[in-house]
Amino acid sequence: MSHSTIWHHATVTRDRRSRQNNHRSVVLWFSGLSGAGKSTLAHAVEEQLHLQGCKTFVMDGDNVRHGLSGDLGFSDADRKENLRRVGEVSKLFIEAGVIILAAFISPFREDREKVRGLVPHGDFLEIYVNCPLEVCESRDLKGLYKRARAGEITAFTGISSPYEPPEKAELSVDTERLTLEESVALVLQMLVERDILG
Ligand code: ADX
Repeated sequence: MSHSTIWHHATVTRDRRSRQNNHRSVVLWFSGLSGAGKSTLAHAVEEQLHLQGCKTFVMDGDNVRHGLSGDLGFSDADRKENLRRVGEVSKLFIEAGVIILAAFISPFREDREKVRGLVPHGDFLEIYVNCPLEVCESRDLKGLYKRARAGEITAFTGISSPYEPPEKAELSVDTERLTLEESVALVLQMLVERDILG
């Protein structure tokens, strides 16, 4: 934290942005194993929200790790730092009035709870993209599980690095059994029930 800077208060506040947008801003945090369908679901939800006129943005691990977190790997400490950065960016997006859809493995409960604690109460909605490891591994869309099993990738989530499933997620989506459309509908229903959409 810098001690020689002074916070400048905006006159265009989050509240005014929300009223103009006709929806609240929140972070939808999609957590789950690689290949569980986090990014697919986040983008499909974004598509529907965009069609409804909402301000949205998707951030996902594969993209963020090309830029903002391009200097980080997959040690526990690097994942923590990755999620800290994403949490801070999410906080800014919330202030900007945007519904942010963050799709990150985010394997550690503590790191996810830290992000929850960064934003105002109720603005962090955790969505557990729940799919068994065997299914993610059999899909192996990027061929990474095979490489992890062969020892070519170390600390791979689910294989050689742990994944701690959410215990109090606002929503759990079983992507093994549900279609993409059904999964999207569950997320949208949650937003309506929580009065996020105008
Ligand atoms: S997180 O643990 O810090 O939340 P993040 O979601 O940003 O991870 O990145 C995960 C993506 O990085 C995976 O979808 C996969 O494509 C790639 N990846 C590369 N190496 C690993 C690894 N060791 N463990 C998990 N994912 C990895």
